[in-house]
Amino acid sequence: MTLVVIVGPPGSGKTTIGRALAESLGAPFRDADADIADAAGKPIPDIFIDHGEDHFRALEREAVRRAVAEHDGVLALGGGAVLAEATRKLLADVTVVHLRVGLAEAVKRTELDRGRPLLQVNPRATLRRLMDERMPLYREVADIEIDTTGRDVADVTEEIRVRL
Ligand code: S3P
Repeated sequence: MTLVVIVGPPGSGKTTIGRALAESLGAPFRDADADIADAAGKPIPDIFIDHGEDHFRALEREAVRRAVAEHDGVLALGGGAVLAEATRKLLADVTVVHLRVGLAEAVKRTELDRGRPLLQVNPRATLRRLMDERMPLYREVADIEIDTTGRDVADVTEEIRVRL
């Protein structure tokens, strides 16, 4: 099979849906954020605290480049990976699924998670801004766009399978 890449804002379900999709396709799953944390030897919030967001973005560009080159199956990206033009160019040659989610549901899905350094202060306003700023970028790279709001994992996964 070829590579299917999942993009979308925090709380859109990229990791959960990506894993379920991979399982239902019998394909391997990989998560770019997990790769970054593994390579750095520390969790993502610690990378932000110790080295700053710019350093994280540099690690992210490299992790995505490596994963797109090496991986066959399903790959979930972090919500900000599409900010890098180099990453958007890489995604031109693979199948990209953009998961959408309404603001209220994204806030609910992410509110208890301490692993998202950008959402520790004013999460609702921050999420709204990130979603507004990035929507055009998700749209630019996406081949398939799916709204996950109010839907369960199996339902969204099945729709992706049908549309691939
Ligand atoms: C980020 C989203 C996170 C993670 C990092 C930065 C972002 O991934 O890559 O904290 O810029 O939106 P999720 O989209 O899985 O939360």
